Amino acid sequence: MLLQWFRQNARDLPWRRESSLYKTVVSEFMLQQTQVKTVLPYFERWMEVFPNFEVLASAPKEAVLHAWSGLGYYARTRHLHQTAKRFAQNPPRSYRELLHCPGIGSYTAAAIASIAWNEPIAVVDGNVVRVLARVFNYSENFPSKSAAIVWATPHAQFLLDKEQAGSFNEAMMELGAVVCTPTAPDCEHCPIRTLCKAFREHTVGACPRFQPTPHFKKTVNRLWLFINGKLLLEPSRIGGGEALWELPELNDGRRAQFSNLRELFRAKRTVANTTYTEVVYQPHSSTNGNRSEAFFKTPPFEGCRWFPLQRLDTVVLSGPHRRWIEEILERNNPKSDR
Ligand code: ADE
Repeated sequence: MLLQWFRQNARDLPWRRESSLYKTVVSEFMLQQTQVKTVLPYFERWMEVFPNFEVLASAPKEAVLHAWSGLGYYARTRHLHQTAKRFAQNPPRSYRELLHCPGIGSYTAAAIASIAWNEPIAVVDGNVVRVLARVFNYSENFPSKSAAIVWATPHAQFLLDKEQAGSFNEAMMELGAVVCTPTAPDCEHCPIRTLCKAFREHTVGACPRFQPTPHFKKTVNRLWLFINGKLLLEPSRIGGGEALWELPELNDGRRAQFSNLRELFRAKRTVANTTYTEVVYQPHSSTNGNRSEAFFKTPPFEGCRWFPLQRLDTVVLSGPHRRWIEEILERNNPKSDR
């Protein structure tokens, strides 16, 4: 039922066309924490630049990061690069061996091993948890996502079609993504609704349930120093070394160097259970005017560097920083007079 539905309804995704181990590995890394529709353009571009493990393994770190730029969660790039080196030299051949690769946990190992080698290991992500919680009408509170995965794993393993493990796993993920959705499940078109206890008992909307998790708020202050056509940036703290840049953080020590800061821009973004308010400050222009030439010649803070605006296209900026920078430039200096 499920597999037949999948054969007839599977989305036409680029890693499913002429699939290969390499495409499966890259797509599964990209799909960790990121939705299919966001991944699509990145995946297509990636395949043009790095068509196989060997090309990726020998590519410079900066080029790899550049191709990933905008997808977020940059540790994944580093891990994928290291994993490609493993595959190019001494490729893992099983679920167990995959677990030794950087960035591959049990979920990604199960996805790769089942899709590429048909190894009978069930994949359990948030979509699969939702499908199974409904099939078994499990409406108790899960204390966390990982607790839900622990609950769902033996059920998924029991139901897994061991002969067609890859297709079964993809079908379960697909069902959760396009039919058995969180808020508007399309039970009418569900291939397994006759097996679904929650459907029979009209409780689909009530499962799965999660204990509310605490939400955190954090403010990050940043500095906008744009002088003589050059913008000050610093290497990202989330990894990537000198290959990934962002607006410098304005900690107390740095703040003390400016007597007159004004708020220039503010943006909110949510990552996992934390909402960040990012506030960008600019020193008052009269304060800048009093600074010595040396201040602008040598970057004022350790690790920071001045980047000419014309070169910004070639710099890998982390997450939404490029958007903010463009917005700030646009607001303060509309294109016509730049
Ligand atoms: N999410 C993670 N892996 C996936 C896959 N292979 N197909 C669809 N969604 C996914």
